[in-house]
Amino acid sequence: MRKPFIGGNWKMNTSRASGSDLARAVSDGVNSIRAAVDVAIFPPFPYLMTIRQILRERNSAVKLGAQDCYFEPDGAFTGEVSLAMLKDIGVDVVLAGHSERRHVLGESDELINKKVKATLEAGLECILCCGEKLEQRVSNLTDTVNERQIRAGLAGVPGEYLSRLTIAYEPVWAIGTGKVATPEDAQTAQQRIRAVLAQLYGQEAADRIRIQYGGSLKASNARDIFKQPDVDGGLIGGASLKSDEFVAICRAAAESVPA
Ligand code: 13P
Repeated sequence: MRKPFIGGNWKMNTSRASGSDLARAVSDGVNSIRAAVDVAIFPPFPYLMTIRQILRERNSAVKLGAQDCYFEPDGAFTGEVSLAMLKDIGVDVVLAGHSERRHVLGESDELINKKVKATLEAGLECILCCGEKLEQRVSNLTDTVNERQIRAGLAGVPGEYLSRLTIAYEPVWAIGTGKVATPEDAQTAQQRIRAVLAQLYGQEAADRIRIQYGGSLKASNARDIFKQPDVDGGLIGGASLKSDEFVAICRAAAESVPA
């Protein structure tokens, strides 16, 4: 049985004050369901330490996530942030391969793979994102794109690291657009992703890896998507900026697991 996992990706939003308020409200709002759902929030880099402190003061089970990292341990990489730095300030989990980093910032599968490996080698958790663009979907390339991004992202990642790995399927056309995948479409894509994981690591290992869905999730549509057998929670953008909405999504995930 996989415990659902909800991530709140704040992207380049909030201020120190509003992010602090949001972290407090989320932490308090999900405290009573901590046994049923894992929750992580991904604030912008400048607020990580402030929010680490807020979560620590509350003895919160909410994990602290970073939206990105660089794979080199140190050196002349202006503007980049190493995994040692993220560990040093108490980050638990790091995103890799988010569609905005792939398609807005131009990250390649090769770079993403280096980040995934470095994150897992550092002992941190990693969420590897994948997902097709609209033109790929209409050309029936959804599974092909996901398979390529998963195989490339996990190249050289040993099976012993998998307990710290989550996959997020985020169809690019559904991100920030209000167009959510149907529960059936999410299930079909994610079942296929799990089959790729099984080819890479064996069925038993693949059955233990959580696969989140992401793309225009809201409290009103989350429940039906979380009911799907290969959907193990979600990665939330816009709706993670409203604490009531985000907590309601976490509740829907907690309730998606049969008693
Ligand atoms: P939205 O929930 O705003 O569509 O964003 C999804 C996402 O990109 C989460 O990483």
